[in-house]
Amino acid sequence: MLKKILDFFRKPTPNDDLANQKERKNSMQTSTCQMTGDCRIPDRATLPKDLYKQLADFIATLPTKEGHLVTALHKAQAIFGYLPREVQEFVADQMGVSLAKVYGVVSFYTFFTMVPKGKFPISICMGTACFVKGADKVTDAFKQQLGVAVSEVTKDGKFSIDCLRCVGACALAPVVMIGEKVYANVTPDQVKNIIADFQ
Ligand code: FES
Repeated sequence: MLKKILDFFRKPTPNDDLANQKERKNSMQTSTCQMTGDCRIPDRATLPKDLYKQLADFIATLPTKEGHLVTALHKAQAIFGYLPREVQEFVADQMGVSLAKVYGVVSFYTFFTMVPKGKFPISICMGTACFVKGADKVTDAFKQQLGVAVSEVTKDGKFSIDCLRCVGACALAPVVMIGEKVYANVTPDQVKNIIADFQ
Protein backbone atom coordinates (compact mmCIF):
# COMPACT_ATOMS: atom_id res chain seq x y z
CA MET A 1 0.00 0.00 0.00
CA LEU A 2 2.77 2.39 0.98
CA LYS A 3 4.55 1.56 -2.27
CA LYS A 4 1.39 2.45 -4.24
CA ILE A 5 1.14 5.80 -2.47
CA LEU A 6 4.83 6.51 -3.05
CA ASP A 7 4.54 5.49 -6.70
CA PHE A 8 1.68 7.96 -7.12
CA PHE A 9 3.87 10.81 -5.94
CA ARG A 10 6.96 9.66 -7.83
CA LYS A 11 8.33 12.33 -10.14
CA PRO A 12 7.75 11.54 -13.84
CA THR A 13 10.27 9.48 -15.77
CA PRO A 14 10.96 9.38 -19.51
CA ASN A 15 8.49 6.48 -19.74
CA ASP A 16 5.55 8.49 -18.44
CA ASP A 17 2.76 9.56 -20.72
CA LEU A 18 3.03 12.43 -23.15
CA ALA A 19 0.81 14.72 -21.17
CA ASN A 20 2.96 14.52 -18.08
CA GLN A 21 6.11 15.00 -20.08
CA LYS A 22 4.69 18.03 -21.86
CA GLU A 23 3.62 19.76 -18.67
CA ARG A 24 6.89 18.89 -16.98
CA LYS A 25 8.77 20.42 -19.89
CA ASN A 26 6.60 23.55 -19.78
CA SER A 27 7.13 23.81 -16.07
CA MET A 28 10.89 23.57 -16.41
CA GLN A 29 10.89 26.15 -19.17
CA THR A 30 8.71 28.69 -17.45
CA SER A 31 9.49 28.32 -13.77
CA THR A 32 11.79 31.28 -13.48
CA CYS A 33 10.48 32.96 -10.37
CA GLN A 34 13.45 31.92 -8.26
CA MET A 35 15.81 33.58 -10.73
CA THR A 36 13.80 36.78 -11.00
CA GLY A 37 12.84 36.98 -7.34
CA ASP A 38 9.22 37.56 -8.31
CA CYS A 39 7.65 34.79 -6.30
CA ARG A 40 7.16 34.51 -2.58
CA ILE A 41 10.12 32.65 -1.13
CA PRO A 42 10.67 33.58 2.50
CA ASP A 43 14.11 34.29 3.86
CA ARG A 44 15.19 30.88 5.02
CA ALA A 45 16.99 32.31 8.02
CA THR A 46 13.58 33.38 9.32
CA LEU A 47 12.23 29.83 9.53
CA PRO A 48 10.97 29.65 13.11
CA LYS A 49 13.20 27.74 15.51
CA ASP A 50 10.23 26.24 17.31
CA LEU A 51 9.29 24.47 14.08
CA TYR A 52 12.66 22.73 14.09
CA LYS A 53 12.00 21.65 17.66
CA GLN A 54 8.60 20.34 16.63
CA LEU A 55 10.25 18.29 13.91
CA ALA A 56 13.00 17.03 16.21
CA ASP A 57 10.38 15.97 18.76
CA PHE A 58 8.51 14.03 16.06
CA ILE A 59 11.65 12.31 14.80
CA ALA A 60 12.46 11.33 18.37
CA THR A 61 9.18 9.40 18.53
CA LEU A 62 10.04 7.24 15.51
CA PRO A 63 10.67 3.64 16.57
CA THR A 64 13.75 3.47 14.33
CA LYS A 65 15.46 5.84 11.92
CA GLU A 66 15.97 3.05 9.40
CA GLY A 67 13.24 3.14 6.73
CA HIS A 68 11.51 6.22 8.12
CA LEU A 69 13.14 8.96 6.07
CA VAL A 70 10.01 9.51 3.94
CA THR A 71 7.90 9.69 7.10
CA ALA A 72 10.23 12.30 8.56
CA LEU A 73 10.15 14.33 5.36
CA HIS A 74 6.34 14.19 5.22
CA LYS A 75 6.25 15.58 8.73
CA ALA A 76 8.86 18.22 7.88
CA GLN A 77 6.80 19.41 4.91
CA ALA A 78 3.63 19.43 7.02
CA ILE A 79 5.39 21.63 9.57
CA PHE A 80 7.31 24.01 7.29
CA GLY A 81 5.09 23.85 4.21
CA TYR A 82 8.06 23.03 2.00
CA LEU A 83 11.55 21.56 2.17
CA PRO A 84 14.30 24.13 1.61
CA ARG A 85 17.94 23.08 1.92
CA GLU A 86 18.13 24.06 5.59
CA VAL A 87 15.26 21.77 6.48
CA GLN A 88 16.75 18.95 4.41
CA GLU A 89 20.06 19.42 6.25
CA PHE A 90 18.24 19.29 9.56
CA VAL A 91 16.42 16.09 8.59
CA ALA A 92 19.67 14.53 7.37
CA ASP A 93 21.35 15.36 10.65
CA GLN A 94 18.46 14.08 12.76
CA MET A 95 18.03 10.89 10.74
CA GLY A 96 21.77 10.16 10.53
CA VAL A 97 21.86 10.08 6.73
CA SER A 98 23.63 12.18 4.13
CA LEU A 99 22.14 15.35 2.66
CA ALA A 100 22.50 13.72 -0.75
CA LYS A 101 20.23 10.88 0.33
CA VAL A 102 17.62 13.31 1.65
CA TYR A 103 17.81 15.39 -1.52
CA GLY A 104 17.46 12.22 -3.60
CA VAL A 105 14.19 11.34 -1.88
CA VAL A 106 12.83 14.90 -1.98
CA SER A 107 13.54 15.28 -5.68
CA PHE A 108 12.15 11.82 -6.51
CA TYR A 109 8.59 12.27 -5.23
CA THR A 110 6.31 14.97 -6.64
CA PHE A 111 4.59 15.28 -3.28
CA PHE A 112 7.68 16.97 -1.88
CA THR A 113 8.40 20.56 -2.80
CA MET A 114 11.49 22.69 -2.28
CA VAL A 115 9.60 25.94 -2.87
CA PRO A 116 6.66 27.22 -0.83
CA LYS A 117 3.09 26.74 -2.05
CA GLY A 118 0.42 29.38 -2.08
CA LYS A 119 -2.18 29.70 0.67
CA PHE A 120 -4.59 28.11 -1.81
CA PRO A 121 -2.58 25.53 -3.77
CA ILE A 122 -4.13 24.80 -7.16
CA SER A 123 -3.54 21.24 -8.33
CA ILE A 124 -4.52 20.42 -11.90
CA CYS A 125 -4.75 16.80 -12.94
CA MET A 126 -2.68 16.11 -16.04
CA GLY A 127 -3.44 12.41 -16.29
CA THR A 128 -4.45 11.11 -19.69
CA ALA A 129 -8.25 11.46 -19.24
CA CYS A 130 -7.95 15.02 -18.00
CA PHE A 131 -5.40 15.94 -20.63
CA VAL A 132 -7.51 14.73 -23.57
CA LYS A 133 -10.44 16.70 -22.16
CA GLY A 134 -8.48 19.93 -22.12
CA ALA A 135 -6.56 20.09 -18.85
CA ASP A 136 -3.71 21.84 -20.66
CA LYS A 137 -6.07 24.64 -21.72
CA VAL A 138 -7.42 24.86 -18.17
CA THR A 139 -3.83 25.15 -16.95
CA ASP A 140 -3.18 27.94 -19.45
CA ALA A 141 -6.27 29.77 -18.19
CA PHE A 142 -5.05 29.57 -14.56
CA LYS A 143 -1.60 30.73 -15.60
CA GLN A 144 -3.06 33.65 -17.51
CA GLN A 145 -5.49 34.69 -14.77
CA LEU A 146 -2.88 34.52 -12.01
CA GLY A 147 0.17 35.67 -13.97
CA VAL A 148 2.36 32.79 -12.80
CA ALA A 149 3.67 29.60 -14.35
CA VAL A 150 3.30 26.05 -13.09
CA SER A 151 5.29 25.56 -9.84
CA GLU A 152 5.18 29.28 -9.06
CA VAL A 153 3.41 31.24 -6.34
CA THR A 154 1.56 34.51 -6.88
CA LYS A 155 3.24 37.61 -5.47
CA ASP A 156 0.62 37.92 -2.73
CA GLY A 157 1.31 34.32 -1.72
CA LYS A 158 -2.32 33.30 -2.20
CA PHE A 159 -2.13 30.86 -5.09
CA SER A 160 0.32 28.38 -6.54
CA ILE A 161 -0.18 26.11 -9.53
CA ASP A 162 0.93 22.52 -9.75
CA CYS A 163 0.12 19.64 -12.06
CA LEU A 164 -0.53 16.13 -10.81
CA ARG A 165 -0.85 12.68 -12.24
CA CYS A 166 -4.27 10.98 -12.37
CA VAL A 167 -6.05 11.62 -9.09
CA GLY A 168 -8.46 8.73 -9.61
CA ALA A 169 -11.56 10.68 -10.63
CA CYS A 170 -11.32 10.31 -14.41
CA ALA A 171 -15.13 10.41 -14.86
CA LEU A 172 -14.96 14.01 -13.64
CA ALA A 173 -12.18 15.08 -16.03
CA PRO A 174 -10.75 17.63 -16.19
CA VAL A 175 -10.28 17.78 -12.43
CA VAL A 176 -8.85 20.71 -10.47
CA MET A 177 -8.31 20.76 -6.71
CA ILE A 178 -7.77 23.87 -4.67
CA GLY A 179 -6.81 22.84 -1.18
CA GLU A 180 -9.47 20.30 -0.21
CA LYS A 181 -12.05 21.54 -2.71
CA VAL A 182 -12.54 19.56 -5.92
CA TYR A 183 -13.78 21.04 -9.19
CA ALA A 184 -15.06 18.66 -11.88
CA ASN A 185 -15.43 19.02 -15.65
CA VAL A 186 -13.55 22.29 -15.52
CA THR A 187 -13.41 24.45 -18.63
CA PRO A 188 -11.13 27.45 -19.25
CA ASP A 189 -14.20 29.73 -19.08
CA GLN A 190 -14.87 28.69 -15.48
CA VAL A 191 -11.39 29.48 -14.22
CA LYS A 192 -12.05 33.15 -13.39
CA ASN A 193 -15.05 32.26 -11.23
CA ILE A 194 -13.20 29.42 -9.54
CA ILE A 195 -10.43 31.80 -8.51
CA ALA A 196 -13.06 34.26 -7.28
CA ASP A 197 -14.23 31.62 -4.77
CA PHE A 198 -11.00 32.24 -2.88
CA GLN A 199 -10.72 36.03 -3.15
S1 FES B 1 -6.76 11.56 -15.47
FE1 FES B 1 -7.45 13.14 -14.20
S2 FES B 1 -8.59 12.13 -12.70
FE2 FES B 1 -7.79 10.51 -13.90
